[in-house]
Amino acid sequence: MARRISLTQYLVEQQREHGHIPAELRLLIEVVARACKTIAISVNKGALGEVLGSAGTENIQGEVQKKLDIIANEVLIEANEWGGHLAAMASEEMDSIHLVPNRYPQGEYLLLFDPLDGSSNIDVNVSIGTIFSVLRKVGHHRGISEQDFLQAGRAQAAAGYCIFGPQSMLVLTVGEGVAVFTLDREMGSWVLTADRVQVPADTREFAINMSNMRHWAAPMRRYVDECLAGQEGPRGKDFNMRWVASMVADVHRILTRGGIFMYPWDKREPDKPGKLRLLYEANPMSFIVEQAGGMATDGRQRILDIVPTTLHQRVSVMLGSRNEVERVTAYHREAG
Ligand code: AHG
Ligand code: MN
Ligand code: MN
Repeated sequence: MARRISLTQYLVEQQREHGHIPAELRLLIEVVARACKTIAISVNKGALGEVLGSAGTENIQGEVQKKLDIIANEVLIEANEWGGHLAAMASEEMDSIHLVPNRYPQGEYLLLFDPLDGSSNIDVNVSIGTIFSVLRKVGHHRGISEQDFLQAGRAQAAAGYCIFGPQSMLVLTVGEGVAVFTLDREMGSWVLTADRVQVPADTREFAINMSNMRHWAAPMRRYVDECLAGQEGPRGKDFNMRWVASMVADVHRILTRGGIFMYPWDKREPDKPGKLRLLYEANPMSFIVEQAGGMATDGRQRILDIVPTTLHQRVSVMLGSRNEVERVTAYHREAG
């Protein structure tokens, strides 16, 4: 049997080879991975664990919270606040940042997460996940504020997601490529099952919520119209379409076999740059996709170069296979 490499061994060896994972960051990643195991167990219990359905509350973005949104958020906070590796946390499901309580030591890292991605899929038993992003506190000032979190995505020290599907998987980057771990439920451990993952530069598969088509901007319509025209159209090839409505699942498919994922700005809410959140969704996913040789833009610029101005900022997202993302970005730039 092939030798199994655990998450811990992977992190220790990465530190030895590249020096990218100081002990505090390793602890952070292991704590997040452990929290994801707890979330995976709740997800798998479903109705038996009374975790399905709505919590009857709304988050700051006006979205109705599911019970699992809140459970996953609490699991991540409880797991991370006492270890001494964090200065503060921010979550899609919390109005403002969560400071590490005074009774615990403070570390230098900032953890951001979308505790439960794909909430609309929880009750229908379709893949969902947890997305996380790690920043360093910059500067030596005392105290922590929202301002500390407003760093461009290229500053991320690590990013990852867990997908709870037929298998539970953890996908991680610390800036040296992308590694995939599969949860061995009997052993309770994350085992390395793919390393140095690469997104193919070309694809015949796109992912977008087509029901919003009539609200899109012209360059977005042009790109999708050309895909739909297939072999007879300007692209000269047929395209397939997929839309899981869980970003983790759509991104995971793209990491596995290529594709392009788009959630563009649209006219429904013209003042919002998009639906997805820059800090909890777009930044970590863009870091992973770039580390796998793919590309991620908001239609004009690289997502990882955007300097956020608010914690819950939204953004237009186009990511995945390089040549397709380049094309749709070029259409947007041409349109001015
Ligand atoms: P969340 O469940 O964290 O709110 O995120 C849902 C996001 C993302 O996962 C997915 O790609 C997208 O919303 C689906 O949106 P539509 O329902 O508009 O297709
Ligand atoms: Mn999400
Ligand atoms: Mn969410």
